[in-house]
Amino acid sequence: MSAFDQVIARCLPLIPRPIVRAVSRRYIAGEIFADAARVITSLNREGLLATVDVLGESVDRAELVGRAVGEYLEALDAIRRDDLRCNISVKPTQLGLMIDAALCLDSVRRLARAARDHGNFVRLDMEDSRCTGATLDLHRTLRAEGFGNLGVVLQACLRRSLDDVRDLPEGTSVRLCKGIYIEPRVIAYRERALINKNFVRLLGEMLDRGLYVGIATHDEEVVWEALQLIDRRRVPTEAYEFQMLLGVDQELRGMIRAAGHRLRVYVPYGSSWYAYSVRRLKENPRIAGYVVRSLLAPRRP
Ligand code: FDA
Repeated sequence: MSAFDQVIARCLPLIPRPIVRAVSRRYIAGEIFADAARVITSLNREGLLATVDVLGESVDRAELVGRAVGEYLEALDAIRRDDLRCNISVKPTQLGLMIDAALCLDSVRRLARAARDHGNFVRLDMEDSRCTGATLDLHRTLRAEGFGNLGVVLQACLRRSLDDVRDLPEGTSVRLCKGIYIEPRVIAYRERALINKNFVRLLGEMLDRGLYVGIATHDEEVVWEALQLIDRRRVPTEAYEFQMLLGVDQELRGMIRAAGHRLRVYVPYGSSWYAYSVRRLKENPRIAGYVVRSLLAPRRP
Protein backbone atom coordinates (compact mmCIF):
# COMPACT_ATOMS: atom_id res chain seq x y z
CA MET A 1 0.00 0.00 0.00
CA SER A 2 1.46 3.37 -0.94
CA ALA A 3 1.93 6.12 1.66
CA PHE A 4 -0.81 8.11 -0.09
CA ASP A 5 -3.28 5.20 0.23
CA GLN A 6 -2.33 4.73 3.90
CA VAL A 7 -3.07 8.37 4.65
CA ILE A 8 -6.43 8.18 2.86
CA ALA A 9 -7.35 4.96 4.73
CA ARG A 10 -6.56 6.54 8.13
CA CYS A 11 -8.60 9.64 7.33
CA LEU A 12 -11.73 7.73 6.25
CA PRO A 13 -13.61 7.94 9.57
CA LEU A 14 -13.10 11.72 9.51
CA ILE A 15 -14.66 12.20 6.09
CA PRO A 16 -18.17 13.71 6.45
CA ARG A 17 -21.11 11.63 5.22
CA PRO A 18 -22.10 14.06 2.42
CA ILE A 19 -18.60 13.75 0.95
CA VAL A 20 -18.72 9.94 1.06
CA ARG A 21 -22.14 10.26 -0.64
CA ALA A 22 -20.75 12.54 -3.34
CA VAL A 23 -17.85 10.16 -3.99
CA SER A 24 -20.05 7.07 -3.98
CA ARG A 25 -22.59 8.59 -6.41
CA ARG A 26 -20.38 7.62 -9.29
CA TYR A 27 -20.21 3.98 -8.17
CA ILE A 28 -23.71 3.47 -6.72
CA ALA A 29 -26.85 3.94 -8.82
CA GLY A 30 -29.00 5.33 -5.99
CA GLU A 31 -31.15 4.21 -3.09
CA ILE A 32 -34.11 2.51 -4.79
CA PHE A 33 -34.57 0.17 -7.75
CA ALA A 34 -36.00 2.97 -9.90
CA ASP A 35 -32.57 4.69 -9.67
CA ALA A 36 -30.85 1.48 -10.74
CA ALA A 37 -33.40 0.96 -13.54
CA ARG A 38 -32.55 4.38 -15.02
CA VAL A 39 -28.83 3.52 -15.04
CA ILE A 40 -29.45 0.04 -16.48
CA THR A 41 -31.72 1.42 -19.22
CA SER A 42 -29.03 3.83 -20.28
CA LEU A 43 -26.34 1.08 -20.21
CA ASN A 44 -28.60 -1.21 -22.27
CA ARG A 45 -29.02 1.61 -24.83
CA GLU A 46 -25.21 1.67 -25.17
CA GLY A 47 -25.28 -2.07 -25.91
CA LEU A 48 -24.07 -3.02 -22.42
CA LEU A 49 -25.52 -5.68 -20.14
CA ALA A 50 -25.94 -5.19 -16.39
CA THR A 51 -26.06 -7.09 -13.14
CA VAL A 52 -27.78 -5.45 -10.20
CA ASP A 53 -26.71 -5.69 -6.57
CA VAL A 54 -28.93 -4.67 -3.65
CA LEU A 55 -26.35 -3.29 -1.22
CA GLY A 56 -25.97 -5.19 2.03
CA GLU A 57 -23.80 -7.90 3.57
CA SER A 58 -22.94 -9.61 6.85
CA VAL A 59 -26.57 -9.62 7.91
CA ASP A 60 -27.12 -10.95 11.47
CA ARG A 61 -30.93 -11.03 11.74
CA ALA A 62 -33.30 -13.32 9.84
CA GLU A 63 -35.80 -10.50 9.22
CA LEU A 64 -33.13 -8.58 7.30
CA VAL A 65 -32.57 -11.66 5.15
CA GLY A 66 -36.30 -11.71 4.37
CA ARG A 67 -36.17 -8.03 3.43
CA ALA A 68 -33.22 -8.58 1.08
CA VAL A 69 -34.96 -11.52 -0.60
CA GLY A 70 -38.07 -9.34 -1.02
CA GLU A 71 -36.05 -6.55 -2.64
CA TYR A 72 -34.40 -8.94 -5.06
CA LEU A 73 -37.76 -10.52 -5.96
CA GLU A 74 -39.13 -7.04 -6.74
CA ALA A 75 -36.03 -6.28 -8.79
CA LEU A 76 -36.49 -9.51 -10.80
CA ASP A 77 -40.15 -8.56 -11.49
CA ALA A 78 -39.18 -5.06 -12.57
CA ILE A 79 -36.37 -6.37 -14.81
CA ARG A 80 -38.89 -8.57 -16.61
CA ARG A 81 -41.60 -5.89 -16.74
CA ASP A 82 -39.22 -3.27 -18.17
CA ASP A 83 -37.44 -5.78 -20.41
CA LEU A 84 -34.02 -4.86 -19.00
CA ARG A 85 -30.95 -6.84 -20.04
CA CYS A 86 -29.86 -7.43 -16.49
CA ASN A 87 -29.38 -10.28 -14.02
CA ILE A 88 -28.84 -10.16 -10.25
CA SER A 89 -25.73 -10.51 -8.08
CA VAL A 90 -26.26 -11.56 -4.46
CA LYS A 91 -24.00 -11.81 -1.42
CA PRO A 92 -24.49 -15.01 0.62
CA THR A 93 -23.88 -13.18 3.92
CA GLN A 94 -26.75 -10.83 3.01
CA LEU A 95 -28.91 -13.93 2.62
CA GLY A 96 -28.04 -15.39 6.01
CA LEU A 97 -24.82 -17.37 5.49
CA MET A 98 -23.47 -16.20 8.87
CA ILE A 99 -26.77 -16.90 10.67
CA ASP A 100 -27.83 -20.32 9.44
CA ALA A 101 -26.68 -22.27 6.36
CA ALA A 102 -30.19 -23.69 5.83
CA LEU A 103 -31.75 -20.20 5.84
CA CYS A 104 -29.19 -19.05 3.29
CA LEU A 105 -29.74 -22.09 1.06
CA ASP A 106 -33.49 -21.52 1.17
CA SER A 107 -33.12 -17.81 0.36
CA VAL A 108 -30.83 -18.43 -2.61
CA ARG A 109 -33.17 -21.19 -3.80
CA ARG A 110 -36.14 -18.77 -3.74
CA LEU A 111 -34.21 -16.26 -5.82
CA ALA A 112 -32.89 -18.89 -8.24
CA ARG A 113 -36.43 -20.24 -8.69
CA ALA A 114 -37.92 -16.78 -9.33
CA ALA A 115 -35.06 -15.96 -11.71
CA ARG A 116 -35.57 -19.25 -13.57
CA ASP A 117 -39.31 -18.53 -13.92
CA HIS A 118 -38.36 -15.14 -15.40
CA GLY A 119 -35.68 -16.62 -17.71
CA ASN A 120 -33.06 -14.82 -15.61
CA PHE A 121 -29.85 -15.64 -13.76
CA VAL A 122 -28.39 -15.28 -10.24
CA ARG A 123 -24.68 -14.71 -9.57
CA LEU A 124 -23.39 -15.59 -6.10
CA ASP A 125 -20.80 -12.90 -5.34
CA MET A 126 -17.73 -14.21 -3.51
CA GLU A 127 -16.94 -12.69 -0.13
CA ASP A 128 -13.92 -13.19 2.12
CA SER A 129 -12.15 -16.54 2.43
CA ARG A 130 -14.30 -17.66 5.41
CA CYS A 131 -17.21 -17.85 2.95
CA THR A 132 -15.50 -19.49 -0.05
CA GLY A 133 -16.22 -23.16 0.75
CA ALA A 134 -19.79 -22.50 1.93
CA THR A 135 -20.58 -20.39 -1.16
CA LEU A 136 -19.26 -23.06 -3.54
CA ASP A 137 -21.29 -25.67 -1.60
CA LEU A 138 -24.46 -23.57 -2.01
CA HIS A 139 -23.83 -23.46 -5.73
CA ARG A 140 -23.13 -27.19 -5.99
CA THR A 141 -26.24 -28.13 -3.99
CA LEU A 142 -28.57 -25.93 -6.00
CA ARG A 143 -27.09 -26.97 -9.32
CA ALA A 144 -27.70 -30.60 -8.33
CA GLU A 145 -31.34 -29.56 -7.74
CA GLY A 146 -31.46 -28.36 -11.36
CA PHE A 147 -30.73 -24.63 -11.00
CA GLY A 148 -28.51 -24.15 -14.03
CA ASN A 149 -29.19 -20.40 -13.81
CA LEU A 150 -26.92 -19.93 -10.79
CA GLY A 151 -23.28 -18.90 -11.16
CA VAL A 152 -20.31 -18.31 -8.87
CA VAL A 153 -17.23 -16.11 -8.59
CA LEU A 154 -13.61 -17.19 -8.15
CA GLN A 155 -10.85 -14.87 -6.97
CA ALA A 156 -7.43 -14.92 -8.61
CA CYS A 157 -5.77 -13.88 -5.35
CA LEU A 158 -6.75 -17.12 -3.60
CA ARG A 159 -4.29 -20.00 -3.71
CA ARG A 160 -7.17 -22.52 -3.71
CA SER A 161 -8.87 -21.13 -6.84
CA LEU A 162 -7.10 -23.46 -9.29
CA ASP A 163 -8.50 -26.50 -7.44
CA ASP A 164 -11.88 -24.78 -7.25
CA VAL A 165 -11.98 -24.27 -11.04
CA ARG A 166 -11.25 -27.96 -11.53
CA ASP A 167 -14.08 -28.89 -9.12
CA LEU A 168 -16.75 -26.66 -10.69
CA PRO A 169 -19.64 -28.64 -12.19
CA GLU A 170 -19.72 -28.89 -16.02
CA GLY A 171 -21.32 -25.89 -17.67
CA THR A 172 -20.92 -23.54 -14.69
CA SER A 173 -21.01 -19.81 -15.37
CA VAL A 174 -18.16 -18.29 -13.40
CA ARG A 175 -17.04 -14.71 -12.83
CA LEU A 176 -13.29 -14.38 -12.44
CA CYS A 177 -12.00 -11.36 -10.49
CA LYS A 178 -8.84 -10.54 -8.55
CA GLY A 179 -10.56 -10.52 -5.13
CA ILE A 180 -11.21 -7.44 -3.04
CA TYR A 181 -10.64 -8.77 0.50
CA ILE A 182 -7.34 -8.56 2.35
CA GLU A 183 -6.41 -12.17 3.20
CA PRO A 184 -3.50 -13.81 5.07
CA ARG A 185 -0.53 -14.77 2.90
CA VAL A 186 -1.03 -18.51 3.49
CA ILE A 187 -4.42 -18.20 1.82
CA ALA A 188 -3.83 -15.57 -0.83
CA TYR A 189 -1.20 -14.18 -3.18
CA ARG A 190 -0.39 -10.61 -2.34
CA GLU A 191 1.87 -9.49 -5.16
CA ARG A 192 -0.07 -7.75 -7.92
CA ALA A 193 2.12 -9.41 -10.60
CA LEU A 194 1.43 -12.87 -9.18
CA ILE A 195 -2.31 -12.22 -8.88
CA ASN A 196 -2.34 -11.10 -12.52
CA LYS A 197 -0.44 -14.24 -13.60
CA ASN A 198 -2.84 -16.41 -11.65
CA PHE A 199 -5.82 -14.57 -13.20
CA VAL A 200 -4.57 -15.49 -16.69
CA ARG A 201 -3.81 -19.06 -15.64
CA LEU A 202 -7.29 -19.53 -14.15
CA LEU A 203 -8.90 -17.98 -17.21
CA GLY A 204 -7.01 -20.46 -19.40
CA GLU A 205 -8.25 -23.36 -17.26
CA MET A 206 -11.82 -22.07 -17.39
CA LEU A 207 -11.75 -21.72 -21.17
CA ASP A 208 -10.16 -25.19 -21.49
CA ARG A 209 -13.04 -26.58 -19.44
CA GLY A 210 -15.59 -24.82 -21.67
CA LEU A 211 -17.02 -22.79 -18.77
CA TYR A 212 -18.83 -19.51 -19.46
CA VAL A 213 -16.52 -16.85 -18.00
CA GLY A 214 -17.25 -13.32 -16.83
CA ILE A 215 -13.85 -11.64 -17.02
CA ALA A 216 -14.20 -9.01 -14.28
CA THR A 217 -11.35 -6.52 -14.31
CA HIS A 218 -10.42 -2.93 -15.13
CA ASP A 219 -6.74 -3.80 -15.40
CA GLU A 220 -5.78 -3.17 -19.02
CA GLU A 221 -2.86 -5.59 -18.83
CA VAL A 222 -5.18 -8.41 -17.72
CA VAL A 223 -7.71 -7.41 -20.39
CA TRP A 224 -4.91 -7.59 -22.98
CA GLU A 225 -3.88 -11.08 -21.79
CA ALA A 226 -7.52 -12.21 -21.83
CA LEU A 227 -7.97 -10.97 -25.39
CA GLN A 228 -4.81 -12.86 -26.41
CA LEU A 229 -6.19 -16.10 -24.94
CA ILE A 230 -9.58 -15.58 -26.57
CA ASP A 231 -8.00 -14.85 -29.94
CA ARG A 232 -5.47 -17.71 -29.85
CA ARG A 233 -8.11 -20.25 -28.85
CA ARG A 234 -10.73 -18.78 -31.19
CA VAL A 235 -13.21 -18.65 -28.30
CA PRO A 236 -16.64 -17.65 -29.67
CA THR A 237 -18.04 -14.35 -28.33
CA GLU A 238 -21.00 -16.20 -26.77
CA ALA A 239 -18.63 -18.13 -24.45
CA TYR A 240 -17.46 -15.21 -22.31
CA GLU A 241 -18.17 -11.62 -21.32
CA PHE A 242 -16.16 -8.83 -19.76
CA GLN A 243 -17.48 -7.28 -16.56
CA MET A 244 -16.75 -3.92 -14.96
CA LEU A 245 -18.00 -1.94 -11.98
CA LEU A 246 -20.27 1.06 -12.50
CA GLY A 247 -18.28 4.28 -12.72
CA VAL A 248 -14.85 2.72 -13.29
CA ASP A 249 -12.79 3.38 -16.45
CA GLN A 250 -15.56 4.03 -18.94
CA GLU A 251 -12.97 4.61 -21.65
CA LEU A 252 -11.70 1.01 -21.36
CA ARG A 253 -15.32 -0.18 -21.18
CA GLY A 254 -16.10 1.62 -24.45
CA MET A 255 -13.04 0.16 -26.19
CA ILE A 256 -13.87 -3.42 -25.16
CA ARG A 257 -17.47 -3.02 -26.31
CA ALA A 258 -16.46 -1.34 -29.58
CA ALA A 259 -14.19 -4.33 -30.33
CA GLY A 260 -17.32 -6.52 -30.32
CA HIS A 261 -17.09 -8.22 -26.91
CA ARG A 262 -20.02 -8.56 -24.53
CA LEU A 263 -19.67 -6.36 -21.50
CA ARG A 264 -21.70 -6.37 -18.30
CA VAL A 265 -21.70 -3.53 -15.76
CA TYR A 266 -22.17 -4.24 -12.04
CA VAL A 267 -24.78 -1.78 -10.74
CA PRO A 268 -25.12 -1.54 -6.93
CA TYR A 269 -28.01 0.34 -5.33
CA GLY A 270 -29.70 0.50 -1.94
CA SER A 271 -30.10 2.36 1.29
CA SER A 272 -26.90 0.86 2.78
CA TRP A 273 -24.70 2.97 0.50
CA TYR A 274 -22.78 4.59 3.39
CA ALA A 275 -21.86 1.33 5.17
CA TYR A 276 -20.98 -0.24 1.80
CA SER A 277 -18.77 2.63 0.69
CA VAL A 278 -16.88 2.94 3.97
CA ARG A 279 -16.41 -0.81 4.35
CA ARG A 280 -15.11 -1.17 0.77
CA LEU A 281 -12.75 1.75 1.25
CA LYS A 282 -11.48 0.42 4.57
CA GLU A 283 -11.10 -3.12 3.29
CA ASN A 284 -9.05 -2.05 0.37
CA PRO A 285 -7.53 1.40 0.77
CA ARG A 286 -6.11 1.23 -2.76
CA ILE A 287 -9.68 1.86 -3.90
CA ALA A 288 -9.87 4.90 -1.65
CA GLY A 289 -6.69 6.03 -3.35
CA TYR A 290 -8.23 5.59 -6.84
CA VAL A 291 -11.32 7.50 -5.79
CA VAL A 292 -9.43 10.44 -4.33
CA ARG A 293 -7.00 10.51 -7.28
CA SER A 294 -9.93 10.54 -9.69
CA LEU A 295 -11.49 13.45 -7.78
CA LEU A 296 -8.23 15.37 -7.85
CA ALA A 297 -7.41 14.56 -11.46
CA PRO A 298 -8.43 17.24 -13.95
CA ARG A 299 -11.47 16.15 -15.95
CA ARG A 300 -11.04 15.69 -19.67
CA PRO A 301 -13.36 17.86 -21.79
P1 FDA B 1 -6.69 -3.32 -10.23
O1 FDA B 1 -7.08 -3.26 -8.80
O2 FDA B 1 -5.25 -3.49 -10.56
O3 FDA B 1 -7.26 -2.03 -10.92
C1 FDA B 1 -6.94 -1.69 -12.28
C2 FDA B 1 -7.31 -0.23 -12.47
O4 FDA B 1 -8.73 -0.08 -12.39
C3 FDA B 1 -6.76 0.66 -11.37
O5 FDA B 1 -5.52 1.18 -11.72
C4 FDA B 1 -7.81 1.72 -11.23
O6 FDA B 1 -7.55 2.76 -12.13
C5 FDA B 1 -9.08 1.07 -11.65
N1 FDA B 1 -9.95 0.63 -10.54
C6 FDA B 1 -10.09 -0.62 -10.08
N2 FDA B 1 -11.05 -0.69 -9.12
C7 FDA B 1 -11.51 0.58 -8.98
C8 FDA B 1 -12.50 1.17 -8.17
N3 FDA B 1 -13.26 0.47 -7.31
N4 FDA B 1 -12.70 2.51 -8.29
C9 FDA B 1 -11.99 3.25 -9.17
N5 FDA B 1 -11.05 2.74 -9.97
C10 FDA B 1 -10.80 1.43 -9.89
N6 FDA B 1 -14.32 -8.99 -5.72
C11 FDA B 1 -14.61 -9.98 -4.87
O7 FDA B 1 -13.82 -10.27 -3.99
N7 FDA B 1 -15.79 -10.68 -4.99
C12 FDA B 1 -16.69 -10.41 -5.98
O8 FDA B 1 -17.74 -11.08 -6.07
C13 FDA B 1 -16.38 -9.36 -6.89
N8 FDA B 1 -17.24 -9.03 -7.89
C14 FDA B 1 -16.83 -8.13 -8.86
C15 FDA B 1 -17.64 -7.90 -9.97
C16 FDA B 1 -17.20 -7.08 -10.99
C17 FDA B 1 -18.07 -6.86 -12.20
C18 FDA B 1 -15.92 -6.46 -10.90
C19 FDA B 1 -15.38 -5.63 -12.01
C20 FDA B 1 -15.14 -6.65 -9.78
C21 FDA B 1 -15.59 -7.46 -8.75
N9 FDA B 1 -14.83 -7.66 -7.61
C22 FDA B 1 -15.17 -8.65 -6.74
C23 FDA B 1 -13.69 -6.75 -7.30
C24 FDA B 1 -12.38 -7.30 -7.82
O9 FDA B 1 -12.02 -8.43 -7.07
C25 FDA B 1 -11.26 -6.24 -7.71
O10 FDA B 1 -11.09 -5.87 -6.38
C26 FDA B 1 -11.52 -4.98 -8.52
O11 FDA B 1 -12.12 -5.27 -9.74
C27 FDA B 1 -10.19 -4.26 -8.79
O12 FDA B 1 -9.34 -5.12 -9.51
P2 FDA B 1 -8.94 -4.92 -11.06
O13 FDA B 1 -8.94 -6.27 -11.70
O14 FDA B 1 -9.83 -3.94 -11.70
O15 FDA B 1 -7.43 -4.48 -11.02
